[in-house]
Amino acid sequence: MAEKWWQSAVAYQIYPRSFQDSNADGIGDIAGIISRLDYLEKLGIDAIWLSPVCRSPQDDFGYDISDYQDIDPMFGTLNDMDKLVAESKNRGIAIVLDLVLNHTSDEHPWFIEAKKSRDNIYHDYYVWRDGDESAPPNGLLAAFSGSAWEWVPELKQWYLHQFSKKQPDLNWDNPAVRQEIYRMIRWWMDRGVGGFRLDVIDLVGKEPDRLITGNGPKLHDYLHELSKETFQKGDLMVVGETWSASTEDAKIYSNPDGSEFSMVFQFEHIMLDQLPGKDKWDLAPLDFMALKKVFTHWQKELHGVGWNSLFWNNHDLPRIVSRWGNDKEYRVQSAKMLAILLHGLQGTPYIYQGEELGMTNATFSSTEGLRDIESLNMHADRLSKGYSEEEIMKSINAKGRDNARTPMQWDSSENAGFTLGTPWIEVNPNYKEINAASQTDDEDSIFSCYRKLIALRKTNPVFAFGDFAILLEDDPHVFTYKRQYKDQEMLVAVNFFSQEEPFFGRVDTSGMKLALSNYKGESDTLRPYEARLYIANPRGF
Ligand code: GLC
Ligand code: CA
Repeated sequence: MAEKWWQSAVAYQIYPRSFQDSNADGIGDIAGIISRLDYLEKLGIDAIWLSPVCRSPQDDFGYDISDYQDIDPMFGTLNDMDKLVAESKNRGIAIVLDLVLNHTSDEHPWFIEAKKSRDNIYHDYYVWRDGDESAPPNGLLAAFSGSAWEWVPELKQWYLHQFSKKQPDLNWDNPAVRQEIYRMIRWWMDRGVGGFRLDVIDLVGKEPDRLITGNGPKLHDYLHELSKETFQKGDLMVVGETWSASTEDAKIYSNPDGSEFSMVFQFEHIMLDQLPGKDKWDLAPLDFMALKKVFTHWQKELHGVGWNSLFWNNHDLPRIVSRWGNDKEYRVQSAKMLAILLHGLQGTPYIYQGEELGMTNATFSSTEGLRDIESLNMHADRLSKGYSEEEIMKSINAKGRDNARTPMQWDSSENAGFTLGTPWIEVNPNYKEINAASQTDDEDSIFSCYRKLIALRKTNPVFAFGDFAILLEDDPHVFTYKRQYKDQEMLVAVNFFSQEEPFFGRVDTSGMKLALSNYKGESDTLRPYEARLYIANPRGF
């Protein structure tokens, strides 16, 4: 397999609403992002995954698109976008656009037409079922609570929406829909974007009558066609969001022959702190041994025959330092530990804005501060089902998407330097302590730890290409693994918990150099959340 640029790359996700506001309306925008590119260049990343900036009524903050080929005025103009692509390119950074292809906004012209009559040529762009108003076609549920079907009285039909009712599902069985999508993607490719992130792409082969949502029987036919008509005409980084993917699925999605994508986001590790068979709001403590098993499984299964993406965080997930680290006494150590553990693996790492600063979850005392439709709908739904306010807020503070959507903490000035206006969602009050300005020039900061990890990956091929072997497999507190590529060997050892653990004498680090750690000086033990990364035959230092 020929090496691909994205195999040694590190990506950074920007949630535009919350990154940097340039015009004091309280909402981040493209001009704001451009003004922060030097920061990202310093961090050393190669690609920016940009959450959606296309025209959208913002019911799901951009994941409800009403025009795929224009920028929402709230974020700027197409001109700003071209400028962002060019300015990023100057710094060696590719822009990866977020494509929402499973559904549009109900305000998209296609849907407005589709709703006019059953004979309209756009009607079949969406998924309709006859029936009567008293009951939806079946019990399929929407991800944002309630039925996945919405009644349209004028047509006497139901339409499918797997997310909010303002996000009607597109009908991929209609070839005209697929062709429109391919045309649109090629148009973005011509504008110079470096890749795409494909929102809930495993849902496009749905067969709602059989209650099939993810992984439908026609899914891979459609994705082969999609890739052939678009991505294969360029040298792109393409990552699919696939909640349902197993390693077997991921080998198809990320086949090195390039027939589908570069890689997928899979969520097996992310779901290890919820009750089995329930949803994310039903909290359970993290099963650490399962975490070791899941990472080991994905590392081994995809080696040489597929490609992993590596992430703890994104705009849908709580902040990792609050979730599986310790955001109090050991915030700095545990944030670095989580970084070293993840970035030592094979795959393309993704950093979500603020993760590189050890930003923590925001907490909400009531629904008043919440902005996310998912949390607000769930709150109403569970209240009506008899859950207590307290239980519901507990779930939201653990798993809600707003927790990681508060503004980027740039400095200690008002609103963390994010906006001169009133931010659309409140800034986390800890911004005076946790912010970029205090970290970028500090060699011991979390930011510097991420910067060093990125630099190490670029100069040491063992990061991108080494194989994987787990060590101390049965140890319930320590995660240790070894990787090897040509003359290089790497060993990562982390203590995932706050009690000290024995280390020296248990693994062999002879001939290796300590390339990075989160404590000063080596000790015989692994101290609370200690992480060490050793390399044999290191390059670049
Ligand atoms: C994806 C996005 C999420 C969005 C959903 C519907 O999971 O990451 O933010 O709400 O798809 O588009
Ligand atoms: Ca703005």
